[in-house]
Amino acid sequence: MNSKVVVIGQGYVGLPLAISSAQAGFKVIGIDLNEEKVSRLNKHQSIVEDVSDAELKSVSESGKYQATTSYSIDPTTEIICICVPTPLGSNHQPDLEILKAATQDVGKSLKAGMLVIIESTIQPGTTRDVVVPILEKESGLIRDQFLVAYSPERIDPMNKKFTIKNTPKLVAGLTSGAAVKAKEFYSKFIDQVDVCDSLEVAETAKLLENSFRLVNISFINELAMFCQKIGIDVNDVIKAASTKPYGFMPFYPSVGVGGHCIPVDPLYLAQAARAVGAPSRFIELADEINLGMPTYFVGRASEMLGGLRDKKVLVIGVSYKPNVADVRETPVEALINGLKKSGAVVSWHDDLVKSWNGESSVALGSGYDLAILATPHNYLDLSLLESVPVLNTRGSK
Ligand SMILES: NC(=O)c1ccc[n+]([C@@H]2O[C@H](COP(=O)([O-])OP(=O)(O)OC[C@H]3O[C@@H](n4cnc5c(N)ncnc54)[C@H](O)[C@@H]3O)[C@@H](O)[C@H]2O)c1
Repeated sequence: MNSKVVVIGQGYVGLPLAISSAQAGFKVIGIDLNEEKVSRLNKHQSIVEDVSDAELKSVSESGKYQATTSYSIDPTTEIICICVPTPLGSNHQPDLEILKAATQDVGKSLKAGMLVIIESTIQPGTTRDVVVPILEKESGLIRDQFLVAYSPERIDPMNKKFTIKNTPKLVAGLTSGAAVKAKEFYSKFIDQVDVCDSLEVAETAKLLENSFRLVNISFINELAMFCQKIGIDVNDVIKAASTKPYGFMPFYPSVGVGGHCIPVDPLYLAQAARAVGAPSRFIELADEINLGMPTYFVGRASEMLGGLRDKKVLVIGVSYKPNVADVRETPVEALINGLKKSGAVVSWHDDLVKSWNGESSVALGSGYDLAILATPHNYLDLSLLESVPVLNTRGSK
């Protein structure tokens, strides 16, 4: 098979997609505006944990994959997948500018019959009302002349059990022909592909999945605050409740959620909900609780030490979740800033992140007034702290 595929955005979503489709036999070009990233990829240096250097080397040397910063898309390309960031802007609200820019660049090279698939997380209606008009305008074609689909990504970086291959994938098309072609594409390297009735169903399903997580994590964090007050460990409560074989799903406490999905995607849903006069109070409250968690732990630390001024505090684990080096939207940043604002002298340890925000990880050791376990990586040996008291953000005792 020599069908040509272009994947726009070579990050956590786009790179694994590009490599999986190359391994399935497609001839893949990965486009990314970040020159350094592209140069590393072409030297077979992976930039995400889920793709190994060896895999990159293998698909590159067999001529199935190449990265580039150029948007000059080969006119014989069959499928273009867009996997660019859809972040929150400075006002903490959805910002589609990157997606619009990438769609404009794709539109300029769009030819009749090509299939464009959006994988970025977006609000219901975005594919139909934002992406398709841009493609029409830039290409001079009308929507019947090309195919458009939406397929949300569910990748969970470093999850060894559920990979791109065995995580079911949703697809929806602007037309049924687009849905059929998108399903045919993904089915070459994904075990189960489910077609949704409309673009809006697939777009909203993705937002539901991550809003469900944010709401429940925030709820468990509230419960953890309650358990702390009455002197029990919330993890014991969760363990006990988890013996119920139906109707319960465990979520665990933390200093808040991070990454580019769970703290972000629900706000896409909340904005869309407000716009049609059906506001999601659950999401808005969950966001507020989530953003308040670092301050809550600054308060707990202050209580433990009788004030934080000039106290030496070691924060352990700064990435947004255990066992990854990813610091995007990490709530630990707000924790560290809050501690510093209260006068503490803060150091941090994270051997996976190593350097961040112009600072470097320090060794785990004694000599601190308090250690705060923020992100519990598996490699950590907390016995090195000796008698330093530990505030565990993953529990309530
Ligand atoms: N990371 C996840 O686990 C995850 C999971 C599901 C869905 N998503 C969604 O997928 C989308 C992409 O997220 P990600 O985590 O892969 O982001 P990322 O930041 O890891 O990667 C995006 C890449 O796009 C590049 N880029 C930015 N603008 C570009 C442009 N105009 N043209 C070409 N490349 C451009 C960036 O340089 C970057 O390398 C987002 O909408 C996100 O919400 C992410």
